[in-house]
Amino acid sequence: MNDLDQLVQAAQADFGVATSPAELENAKARYLGKAGRVTELLKGLAALAPEEKKARGAEINATKQRVEAALQARRQALADAELEAQLKAESLDVTLPGRARGVGGLHPVSRTLERIEQIFGSMGFDVADGPEIETDWMSFTALNNPENHPARSMQDTFYVDMKDAEGRWLNLRPHTSPMQVRYARMHAAKYAGQEHMPEIRVIAPGRTYRVDSDATHSPMFHQCEGLWIGENVSFKDLKSVFIDFFRTFFETDDLQLRFRPSFFPFTEPSAEVDIAFNSGPLKGRWLEVAGSGQVHPNVVRNFGLDPEKYIGFAFGMGPDRLTMLRYGVNDLRLFFDGDLRFLSQFKS
Ligand code: PHE
Repeated sequence: MNDLDQLVQAAQADFGVATSPAELENAKARYLGKAGRVTELLKGLAALAPEEKKARGAEINATKQRVEAALQARRQALADAELEAQLKAESLDVTLPGRARGVGGLHPVSRTLERIEQIFGSMGFDVADGPEIETDWMSFTALNNPENHPARSMQDTFYVDMKDAEGRWLNLRPHTSPMQVRYARMHAAKYAGQEHMPEIRVIAPGRTYRVDSDATHSPMFHQCEGLWIGENVSFKDLKSVFIDFFRTFFETDDLQLRFRPSFFPFTEPSAEVDIAFNSGPLKGRWLEVAGSGQVHPNVVRNFGLDPEKYIGFAFGMGPDRLTMLRYGVNDLRLFFDGDLRFLSQFKS
């Protein structure tokens, strides 16, 4: 092996131990830099005789090319290694289990409200939504519950220390009946002066407020009231709607329904609605599920309709209560405490 071969070998070995581009550049300088070994050899040519110069020059140039080729090969090897390391560091392990996002769910009472809306919707009832702060007139007076009448205390409510533009006191609505008044008045106005008016069929679900608080009463609770007014609507229609509704809601035909005489200022006659399951854990117990009655003529008049021509019924039920029955929950307050250990049991 001559000196030039040795030089190439030394360069290959030096380049081979460089583990980074910077180290490789330093090694390169030792051979190809200004004072590098190959450069020195080329400089040495000047001292040779012309005929020697040619042969030696060709040899040194060949050597230089081999050193450059070795350098290039090492550069490529380092670049490949770096790319490989990067790919490895950035690789995804698709076999790792995913990080699941916590999925929320509807509140159980919202589920019930959706269910009620859907069932009544299928029976041709519209759904009406409205203000939770109401005038005294809408909450009581229009519903045949005159000012200072003791029947108002049945719905002991929260008053707001404020009057509307017409001087009416405001309160947090104790029931969603005001929404029926609003809806019926709009409907009546729309068809005023016409021979026949399409029937009013509407439910009004929403939040309601009363001064009440224990395991089965909350100062804020939900109601769904309903109204059906036409020229020929009777208690038998009310009963069939109720039977259909409760059977669909509780997903069983195995239940009975009864009307129990009662009193409400806005209906006459009035009845509480009870149901009893013929099987299951609540078998044979009569459960009060709604209030109802034929809309009082004074209320029909306040709708802007002639009570001699239009008749119908109204009802009100408690979606919170229905949710408790459906899921077997015995304390209403659980629904409003916001405890996820309770609420998350209802998502599905
Ligand atoms: N508004 C009554 C209540 O809140 C319920 C009801 C509605 C009763 C319609 C009869 C008819 O207690």
